[in-house]
Amino acid sequence: MNSSASHKAAHVTTRRLLDMKQNGEKISMLTAYDYTMARILDRAGVDVLLVGDSASNVFSGHSTTLPITIEEMIYHAKAVVKGVKEESGRAMVVTDMPFMSYQLSGEEALRNAGKIMKEHECDAVKLEGGRVIAETVKRITDVGIPVMGHLGLMPQSIYKYGSYRVRAQEEREAEQLLEDAVLLEQSGAFAIVLEKIPSALAAEVTRSLTIPTIGIGAGIECDGQVLVINDILGLNREFHPRFVRQYADLNTVIEDAARQYVADVRKRDFPSPDESY
Ligand code: KIV
Repeated sequence: MNSSASHKAAHVTTRRLLDMKQNGEKISMLTAYDYTMARILDRAGVDVLLVGDSASNVFSGHSTTLPITIEEMIYHAKAVVKGVKEESGRAMVVTDMPFMSYQLSGEEALRNAGKIMKEHECDAVKLEGGRVIAETVKRITDVGIPVMGHLGLMPQSIYKYGSYRVRAQEEREAEQLLEDAVLLEQSGAFAIVLEKIPSALAAEVTRSLTIPTIGIGAGIECDGQVLVINDILGLNREFHPRFVRQYADLNTVIEDAARQYVADVRKRDFPSPDESY
């Protein structure tokens, strides 16, 4: 991802994220699925772009993250990496390993992590799970591929949970999550996403680790925050969970623009002579 062009900014690395935690600087992360958005978000100074398997929901319209394939993830990731490279080159790009691309065996996980890294030169991969995947995380990081963990609400396990409610509210699950976080750090993970867990637990996990935590619905004490770009832009009218802060209403902006265009075409207002050859 590092680029030699003169206008390029220093690329965000795993080392930089560690320093940010140590210096108390908050880490900003957003999802991105395409070239144009990646350019805008890199220009805006977002530290980490996550090519999330939430593309399965917000890009492809599936009801869960499970259907997206490794080829589809690579397709999105290639576009995002290209966007960052052609902008300032600053943002780190992390790609989600999709459901069943890393669960069957350590060997297959390593092959797929390698495929993701080789085919689009991203900076790291993200896997969901704790103790169950600790060995796999070690195997992947041992060959030099940085791994971001993901604990708490893990959308790839939605059929097991049966709902998207807040996780680890009971003591036993909270204790397990804390142990899982420590295990992931010991296995070589460079950061961990904490999704939809009580703020107090996220704070305890954050204090217990030397690697950064990135929260989504996990309170202010995490070392950084991540949200789905479509949610902060207000692209989805139906989805308003408590942990999302909506910064724009692009759903209305886009619909109004499209309505205006339709009207202009119908009344023969578009194209004008100035817009014609
Ligand atoms: O896929 C995704 O968008 C994610 C974030 C919710 C962290 O994993």
